[in-house]
Amino acid sequence: MTLDYFPPPKSPNTMFLVTGVNGLIASHVADQLLAAGYRVRGTVRDISRCQWLADHFESRYGYNRFGLVQLNDFGAEGAWEVTLQGVSGSRQSRALPTSRWRTSIAPSHQSSNGSTLFVGSQKTSSVKSFSFTSSAWAAYTPNPNVTRVLTENTWNEEAVARAADPRLSAEEKGLAPFMAQGSTSGMLLRLFEGKDYEIILKILPQWFVDSRDAGRLHLAALTDPSVDRQRLFACAERYSWPQILSLMRTLYPERQFVELEDQGWDQTTVPNAKAEELLRRLGRSSWVSLQDSVRENIECYYHPS
Ligand SMILES: NC(=O)c1ccc[n+]([C@@H]2O[C@H](COP(=O)([O-])OP(=O)(O)OC[C@H]3O[C@@H](n4cnc5c(N)ncnc54)[C@H](OP(=O)(O)O)[C@@H]3O)[C@@H](O)[C@H]2O)c1
Repeated sequence: MTLDYFPPPKSPNTMFLVTGVNGLIASHVADQLLAAGYRVRGTVRDISRCQWLADHFESRYGYNRFGLVQLNDFGAEGAWEVTLQGVSGSRQSRALPTSRWRTSIAPSHQSSNGSTLFVGSQKTSSVKSFSFTSSAWAAYTPNPNVTRVLTENTWNEEAVARAADPRLSAEEKGLAPFMAQGSTSGMLLRLFEGKDYEIILKILPQWFVDSRDAGRLHLAALTDPSVDRQRLFACAERYSWPQILSLMRTLYPERQFVELEDQGWDQTTVPNAKAEELLRRLGRSSWVSLQDSVRENIECYYHPS
């Protein structure tokens, strides 16, 4: 990836902790932090399974910029304190003044244990900033028949009530189909190849963001002083699967694709201006477009670099 302008790091040894760093979003968070000149420690549940990521980042950013730490149980007593103490230890071993260090955390998995990390980080004086990823579904359940305007204070109370309703099965709560569809990036491939794509049609028209922009927004949230206890809506453009198919047809006119029925269009207005402003402050002209994102995602599979 070509890098644009990034603000210079406060210190090249500033360390960020990214949880679940082998995940789609978290790996891009780590990538953007490393590209901006910071160091990253990433937690994974199985180091041997994720060694490829350390090798990848070392080849990209050099030796000793990225490290993996195994953390199987986020809820275990003292788990975060131990992880954060490890970071403090490496600080001391470098013999740098404490005041020049800034340790930050970007948990990027969906887990209630993010709150235990937050509590743990508050107890650690070196931790200066904290960012957390959630699904857009934390704000609303996409429904093309509903027109609405979201604010930074909109929460998906309906989904919370459904999740807590003991009379509903997981299927009725709408979780099972979502959990079964696998990686978002793999969803595009299913559509591109016309294989096993039916399950993804359960995801109705909504907003999209490219994973790299999601990573950039974490970088901004963790380092830009204008962000303080703020909720950022990483929403670049609306999409629907039939529209993505139409983009694929334009990009790959020689290829045959499946036909999909029109799914309608998300009528939700989202408060994404602050997020876009932060991308600009990082030197980007705007969001990565849906068309570019679709093309580059497909090219990852068909022309791996
Ligand atoms: N992908 C999207 O389109 C999208 C869009 C908006 C928001 N989000 C949100 O972004 C977050 C990350 O999504 P993603 O697509 O990047 O997920 P992902 O690729 O599936 O990665 C999830 C990561 O969390 C780890 N993890 C899962 N359950 C865990 C647990 N119980 N304990 C410890 N680690 C656990 C996984 O570890 P293992 O590899 O060991 O399983 C993996 O590292 C989620 O909150 C998601 O809702 C995603």
